[in-house]
Amino acid sequence: MALRLGDIAPDFTAETTEGTINFHEWLGNSWGMIFSHPADFTPVCTTELGRTAQLTDEFAKRGVKVIAVSVDPLESHTEWVKDINETQNTTVNFPMIADKDRQVAELYDMIHPNASEKSTVRSVFIIGPDKKIKLTLTYPASTGRNFTEILRVIDSLQLTANYQVATPADWTEGQDVIVVPAVSTEDAIKKFPKGVTIVKPYLRTTPQPNK
Ligand code: BEZ
Repeated sequence: MALRLGDIAPDFTAETTEGTINFHEWLGNSWGMIFSHPADFTPVCTTELGRTAQLTDEFAKRGVKVIAVSVDPLESHTEWVKDINETQNTTVNFPMIADKDRQVAELYDMIHPNASEKSTVRSVFIIGPDKKIKLTLTYPASTGRNFTEILRVIDSLQLTANYQVATPADWTEGQDVIVVPAVSTEDAIKKFPKGVTIVKPYLRTTPQPNK
């Protein structure tokens, strides 16, 4: 069955470009992102991995460890990383899982046989410090993912985890956020000293608490 939000991210031990990794041990108490790529030496994947490397500081700032997976062997990953670094003007500094026996791809349901028998779709799983899945995204092989959106969702998830707020449609960093329904208006007024705007009893906003 497909993995769902709130499920524990499956654990595994796998060979990567940074040595053998046990996933849960490697995550420790951090947030994590595991994301799949259809195949090595493909153009869209090359740009995506380059973009992720360029955003290293952004992931680090949010305490998110990043790990990529594709079903090609380690020697192929190692050669491909040289191309990614060269063409995307960056240095890949996160592990890439060599999932040639498809262990990880199958655990995370990353192969959708009606799309492709052989390669993974572009999956993203964001995992919280409790090892639970907080976000899943699935893109087709032909569409590169929007990493600005991925960082935006991580910001939203971390605000919810830390402050009991949700984020409205198209929210970006610095804009007002929504008080979650579980918090009463009386408690919200105490909890959010920057003020609470009651648009409707069920729609209450407050300035972003960590700004
Ligand atoms: C790519 O990763 O570049 C790609 C893979 C499959 C179809 C189209 C593009």
